[in-house]
Amino acid sequence: MSLQDTKQAIKHQLTSIYDALELNSIVNMLIEEVTGWDALHQNIHKNDAIEEAQLIQLENYTQELLTGKPIQYIIQKAWFMGKAYFVNEHVLIPRPETEELVEWVISYAEIINKPLSIVDIGTGSGCIPIALKLALPNANISTIDVSSKAIEVAKQNAATHTTTIHFIEQDILQTKQLEDKFDIIVSNPPYIPNREKASMQEQVIYFEPAMALFVSDHFPLQFYSKIAQLGKQALHKNGQLFFEIHYDQGQAVLKLLDEMGYTAELKQDMYGKDRMVRASLKN
Ligand SMILES: C[S@@+](CC[C@H](N)C(=O)[O-])C[C@H]1O[C@@H](n2cnc3c(N)ncnc32)[C@H](O)[C@@H]1O
Repeated sequence: MSLQDTKQAIKHQLTSIYDALELNSIVNMLIEEVTGWDALHQNIHKNDAIEEAQLIQLENYTQELLTGKPIQYIIQKAWFMGKAYFVNEHVLIPRPETEELVEWVISYAEIINKPLSIVDIGTGSGCIPIALKLALPNANISTIDVSSKAIEVAKQNAATHTTTIHFIEQDILQTKQLEDKFDIIVSNPPYIPNREKASMQEQVIYFEPAMALFVSDHFPLQFYSKIAQLGKQALHKNGQLFFEIHYDQGQAVLKLLDEMGYTAELKQDMYGKDRMVRASLKN
């Protein structure tokens, strides 16, 4: 069977669960994983025959996709700022919005132009601290997660990308004081109220770690409040908080931070949605 026909057959099986655009990129990712050919080479080799063993592997992957499992967990790989990260069921799949948060931190750090100490709260795959370390090699970077399994994954990614990061396994909600002082505290914490589960994609609810996503309906800003409270003691003079937020929590997060003694600004993501907040303590 030619590569072209194989792709068509896979698409045919998956049309019921993905739209055309998503399907194209998913099938390209699958083929790349199995053959090593990127999209360009898949086009060059479109008439080549696919080996039997590769067909079997592709069929297995297709069956897993039919269960709704995200492609990133199937091939155990996700991309973040142009780099590949190992991912498994213990970590959130890094999102493009978070790349924008990291880019914002990097632009700020470049203006400050001195080696900074940065802590990331909610490590997951390690995408935030590792991307920051790659862009800001002189920065001192720590990261905190309550999940030992997530920290294991992030350590593996830090080794793959040859970055030195200080990993701390800790429940931030139970933390009275951070171990150190920092110029920047960055976080993409859990922020989706439990009540939104009902309207979310099954792929997210069933496969991504609930601990990484959901917060109580009663106090959805719990992580921002806790981190801002810790920041009062842990931020150096002119230190900054950088948060990723739920698109409809922008005004609420600004209000919370204002009441806690911070000056805060909101930033929209590439879709024009409120998605990031930066804050520093009022003088
Ligand atoms: C939204 S995910 C972000 C992961 C990663 N930074 C990213 O952007 O892809 C939130 C992370 O916070 C961690 N987390 C949840 N509750 C926590 C707590 N109480 N203390 C520390 N980390 C926590 C989760 O394990 C998860 O890795």
